[in-house]
Amino acid sequence: MVAHRSPTLVSLADYECEAQRRLDPGALAYVSGGAGDELTMRENAAAWQRLAIRPRVLVGVGQRDPGTTLLGKRRPHPLIIAPMAFQRFAHRDGELASARAAAKTGAIVCLATLASTTAPRLAHAVPDAPRWFQLYVFADRGVSRELVAQAVEHGYEALVVTVDLPVLGFRERELRTPLQATHAEQIASAAAAGAQGTMTPPQFASLIDADLKWSDIEQFVGESPIPVLVKGILTPEDARLAAEHGAAGVVVSNHGGRQLDTVFTGAEALPEIAAAVGERIDVLVDGGIRRGTDVLKALSLGARAVMVGRPVIWGLAVDGADGAARVLEILLSEFDTALALAGAPRAAALDGSFVAPAPWAPPRQ
Ligand SMILES: Cc1cc2nc3c(=O)[nH]c(=O)nc-3n(C[C@H](O)[C@H](O)[C@H](O)COP(=O)(O)O)c2cc1C
Repeated sequence: MVAHRSPTLVSLADYECEAQRRLDPGALAYVSGGAGDELTMRENAAAWQRLAIRPRVLVGVGQRDPGTTLLGKRRPHPLIIAPMAFQRFAHRDGELASARAAAKTGAIVCLATLASTTAPRLAHAVPDAPRWFQLYVFADRGVSRELVAQAVEHGYEALVVTVDLPVLGFRERELRTPLQATHAEQIASAAAAGAQGTMTPPQFASLIDADLKWSDIEQFVGESPIPVLVKGILTPEDARLAAEHGAAGVVVSNHGGRQLDTVFTGAEALPEIAAAVGERIDVLVDGGIRRGTDVLKALSLGARAVMVGRPVIWGLAVDGADGAARVLEILLSEFDTALALAGAPRAAALDGSFVAPAPWAPPRQ
C-alpha cells in the first residue's frame, strides 16, 4: 500500500496516527515527547482551539492570496518548516526530504545546527528550497562562526538563533525510551565542535553554550550579512530586547513544549509580543499548529509566518519527501478554505477582529 495515496490520510492527525505506527519506539519518544508533565506541549495545540473565528461574509472571496511579507520579501504563504535535529531518525533522506517538500510547496525550510546533513550539502542537493539556518551557539564560537559563514555562502536567507535551550529540558519519554545513539561524525556541526563516538540527544545538547547573552546576539547581528531572528521568545520584555539588539525578528516559541513545562503557549504569548514589537520587527510563532484555522488565527494575532514542527516529521515518517509535502499541502489547502470562509481573501489583511476567546473548553488529548 502506498500510504500517501490512501484516502484515509486527509488530515495532519491522520499522519500522526500513521507515523506512530511506523516510527521505532525511541524515535517516537523523541518526536512526540515534551518536558515535565507535558502540560505546555498539550496546551500548545489546545490554545489555538480556545480561539473562535469571527467570520465576515459577502466580501468577495473568489480571488484569494495567502501571501505574506517576511524580512521584507514577498512569500507565497506563511508556512516554514521548523528546525528539527537528527531528521534521519524519521526517514533515511532526513533533512533533504524536508527540503524537497519545501521546494515543492514554497515553504521555507529551516535547517537545524544538529541536522544529519550539512548546510552546503542541502543547498547542493535541493537548490530550489527556500532556506534559513538555525543556530545553536556552541561554547566554541569559532565553530558557530564557521557554520554561519557556510550558511551565508550557500544561499541561506536568514539565521535563526535558538535561545531557549541553554540546557536540555527534562523529557521523561526520552529518558524512558531513549533515541538510538548517533555517531557524532554523522552530525557534522557536533563533530566540528569536538564531539566523538556515539552520542544521545542530551549529549549533543551539552555542546551548547549555557552562558549565551544578549551581547552575543548583538555580535552575531553585527557580523551576519543575513537577517538574524531570535527563536524561543515568550515575553514582550525579551522581544523588545531582541529588537534593541538588532534582531530582524523573533519566533514566539516554547520549543514545542520540550524545554520548560508550564510556560505560555505561542497563541497566548503572541498578542502581547506583536503589540510590543510587531511594528519594528517580524513576529513569527510556532507550537501546536495543526490546522489551517490555526494559521489564520496566528496571522490574525500578529504573526507574519508560522513554523510547523512535528507534523513534518510525521509526513517524513509516512512517506519521505512526498509525505512531508502532503502535510504542508493539507495545511495550505485548509488555510485557503479558512481564508474564504472567514471572509479574509488576503492573508496580509488579517487582524485581531477575526478572532475572539471561544466560549467552549478545549478538548483534552
Ligand atoms: C523532534 C524535534 C526536534 C527539534 N529540534 C530542534 C532544534 O534542533 N532546534 C530548534 O530550534 N528547535 C527544535 N525543535 C523545536 C521546533 O523547532 C519547534 O519550535 C516546535 O517543534 C514547534 O512545535 P510543533 O512541533 O508543535 O509544531 C525540535 C522539535 C522537535 C519535535
